[in-house]
Formats: sequence, structure tokens, C-alpha cells
Amino acid sequence: DASALARAESLITSIPDYPKPGIMFRDITPLLTDATALRTVVEALVEPFAGRFDAVAGVEARGFLLAGAAAIAANVGLMPIRKAGKLPRPAAAVEYDLEYGSATIEMHDDNAAGARVLLLDDVLATGGTLAAGRELLEAVGSEVIGIATLLEIDGLGGREALGGDVHAIFHV
Ligand code: PRP
Ligand code: MG
Repeated sequence: DASALARAESLITSIPDYPKPGIMFRDITPLLTDATALRTVVEALVEPFAGRFDAVAGVEARGFLLAGAAAIAANVGLMPIRKAGKLPRPAAAVEYDLEYGSATIEMHDDNAAGARVLLLDDVLATGGTLAAGRELLEAVGSEVIGIATLLEIDGLGGREALGGDVHAIFHV
């Protein structure tokens, strides 16, 4: 409910000047360590999409923290999207831009063809990570039925980069 969500939100800690001067780091680990808060946010992430997905996908590393829990909560499978170079048989790869430079993500394609997938990540900033995740899932033949994030940082264009349809639990 609203008060449980407000309490969970209060556990997200803001760390100024990390990892660089001028950056405000949003630390979700205090929320993760609280059993009630963790369950509350995981249920809130999947609730709008109930019954409409066969798997949850999460992007390494912090997306895994929520995606594994969400998959169990929704009784569906888990599709891990990894940073490049970690998988023995990657079926597809997508490169995307970071603030400085670029990164590549990869995944296997087990059970991917025709799967209806809910794509999760902890934070939506510029949207580069989630847009790349969606492109990767489509490349392996999955249908991304929704995108959800714990925390959307407003004003960085992430929502627009994803076409506007994102379920965000919290905003800063
Ligand atoms: C962080 C965060 C999101 C992404 C959001 O991941 O976990 O995945 O940035 O930013 P964007 O919307 O601009 O793409 P990061 O790649 O820093 O590392 P981690 O998840 O491996 O810790
Ligand atoms: Mg990440």
C-alpha cells in the first residue's frame, strides 16, 4: 500500500559526489536489506503487468537484484542480460552509449522465442541501458510487454528514449 511504498522510498539513500564530484548516487541497498520494503517494491514492479508475461529480464548488475526476486514473486522465468564477455554462448549483443564511452550487453536465447517479457532495472537515467535491453530481447525473438524501474531520475530523457511507456515506482 501507499504507506509501505513511502517507507520503502525513505530507505533509498542519496550519496553526494559519488562516484564523481557533482553526481548524486542513489543507493538502494538499505531498501534491499529490509524484508518488508523489498517485498513491497518487488510486488509493485510486477503488479501492473500481472498475468501478461512469461519471464522477467534484468540487466547486470543491479537489475539482477530485482529481477530474480520479481520472477519468483510472479512465478515466471528469469532471463539474465549480462555485460559482454561473461556468457559461453551469447545469441545476440547490443552496444549502447554511456556517459563516457560505451558498453555491450549479451544474452542467451533459451526460451526466448515468443516469450512475453517484463524488463526491469533498478534505475532509469538516460534510458540507454533499458533501451539496449529491449533491443536485445527483440533480437532473440522475445516480446517486451513492459518496462519497469524502481527509481526514475526525471529530466534526463530516459522515459522519452524508451517511448514514454515505463512503470516507475519512485521518482527523483
Ligand atoms: C546503472 C543502473 C542502470 C543504469 C541507468 O547501471 O543500474 O542500469 O545505470 O542509467 P541509464 O538509464 O543512463 O542507462 P551501471 O551500468 O552503472 O552498473 P551496474 O548495474 O552494473 O551497477
Ligand atoms: Mg545497471
